[in-house]
Amino acid sequence: MSEPVYHVPVLLQEVMDGLNIRPQGVYVDCTFGGGGHSKEILKRLNGQGRLIVFDQDADAKENVPDDDRVTFVPHNFRHLQRFLRLHKATAVDGIIADLGVSSHQFDEAERGFSIRFDGELDMRMDKRQTQTAHTVITTYSEQQLHKLFEQYGEVTNAKTLARTIVQLRNTRSMKTIANFKEALHSVVKGNPNRYFAQVFQALRIEVNDELGALKELLQQFPSVLKPGGRVAVITFHSLEDRLVKNFFKKGNFEEEEQHDPFGQISFTPPLTVITKKPVIPAEAERQINPRSRSAKLRIAEKL
Ligand SMILES: C[S@@+](CC[C@H](N)C(=O)[O-])C[C@H]1O[C@@H](n2cnc3c(N)ncnc32)[C@H](O)[C@@H]1O
Repeated sequence: MSEPVYHVPVLLQEVMDGLNIRPQGVYVDCTFGGGGHSKEILKRLNGQGRLIVFDQDADAKENVPDDDRVTFVPHNFRHLQRFLRLHKATAVDGIIADLGVSSHQFDEAERGFSIRFDGELDMRMDKRQTQTAHTVITTYSEQQLHKLFEQYGEVTNAKTLARTIVQLRNTRSMKTIANFKEALHSVVKGNPNRYFAQVFQALRIEVNDELGALKELLQQFPSVLKPGGRVAVITFHSLEDRLVKNFFKKGNFEEEEQHDPFGQISFTPPLTVITKKPVIPAEAERQINPRSRSAKLRIAEKL
């Protein structure tokens, strides 16, 4: 039998075109995973080029190529600038962030990310952290659970789900995925797979503080990029995409346009948007790789 594929990179050609790689440049892959995007970057770098790759999941280290130009940073990308300084790369030519979890993480039953398997209700990308999905459902208040299921999972009956978890959690075990699904079967609305996929997405975002880490990452782009340097971000749900879109356009995360009736505030956003609309995978890629279907790529350049 052939080895299972760790991860198939999404929008590979589009990312390479967008980054416009300088052969002697310094590049950062914030989400190394199986190294699909990194591998393509390396092909375009010459002997002077450098690639610094981040992944908070220790499993990704196995995929790091034996190449002097590559530095692996086994930490959260929210510490981008700190680790770039540590590795003497204060200004970089390009950055890629391909957000979310890898197929490898989904396919490993014991990581607890997938509703297809049984395993501990875990969902940590970084196993050094103590908070798991199980600690979230057993320690959060009903209001906190309600909010996260509503905002991060768009679960239709988020309030009922939160209330039921709180009612049952002292008497029913919810340690494993099977326990959790079984305990909550009476609150499921519509297709159970779709329902639990939304519940799991919400828990995963919370456990890994995905939106918090993304905000911190975005805020560091203007100070770590060289003038003319580019950043490419691939998102997989609307909450992430909105943060990227607003930050690229306005340099902040506000939804509302700032009104300036007297036209006195002159503000130049720190990045220039290259992709006015997000780039989405072509039909051929969507057919071959169903995971790519929700992907959106946005690219910006440092002024
Ligand atoms: C979608 S996969 C990236 C796949 C990669 N582009 C490839 O071609 O194989 C996302 C990876 O980023 C890592 N990751 C997600 N959020 C992270 C964060 N905040 N800090 C560091 N790594 C993160 C995950 O552990 C996972 O391995």
